[in-house]
Amino acid sequence: MVERDVGLPSFWDGAYRSGKTVWDLGEPTPVFRRLLKWRQFAAGRMIVLGAGHGYDAREFARRGFSVVAVDFAAEAVRWMAALADPQASVEIVHASIFDLPHTLDGSFDYVLEYMCYCAIDPARRGDYADLVARLLKVGGRLIDLAFPLTRHDGGPPYAVSVEEIVAQFEPRGLTLMESEWPADSHPARRGREQLLIFQKMP
Ligand SMILES: C[S@@+](CC[C@H](N)C(=O)[O-])C[C@H]1O[C@@H](n2cnc3c(N)ncnc32)[C@H](O)[C@@H]1O
Repeated sequence: MVERDVGLPSFWDGAYRSGKTVWDLGEPTPVFRRLLKWRQFAAGRMIVLGAGHGYDAREFARRGFSVVAVDFAAEAVRWMAALADPQASVEIVHASIFDLPHTLDGSFDYVLEYMCYCAIDPARRGDYADLVARLLKVGGRLIDLAFPLTRHDGGPPYAVSVEEIVAQFEPRGLTLMESEWPADSHPARRGREQLLIFQKMP
């Protein structure tokens, strides 16, 4: 069953206001921290979809990435602004990811996905994949920590599977280059998330 209001900012604002934000680690995601520490990706222009409080967006910005963080919940955006790091600025966009202008097309080296794909109405996953495909430059990469790899009904979070994600992205020109079960996932999420790296092909 799809939560009636999941596509509305008010649903997420309500969660942020009431503190029902189980997804919020209160710090950057350990898996992304490790990618940065090992310099797995050269710094470039990145967009973070459904950025929440922006811990990951700020962490990439601290490592020299030029980061745009998008969220449609006013509460999330307010926190992102309050937590801003003057040494590592992030461009905050208060908008639905589905309303991002076409002027952004082809302008990102990276899209960072963590818990936005599982937060939207599953009926919109094709729109999400279209969006990622158009935002990336040719050769650009989607860094997707896919969660939750479970089989439950309902949400959010709505269940995801690697097969379904690949079936969304590959027809849109994104090829799965790497996948990994991260040993450094948050303990409560270990075994329920996989790191997937897709690349946009010419
Ligand atoms: C489960 S939270 C994850 C937040 C963050 N990525 C994290 O890991 O802490 C999902 C976030 O996506 C945002 N979101 C959901 N649908 C959205 C949409 N259509 N446009 C922009 N943001 C959206 C919500 O407001 C919420 O902040």
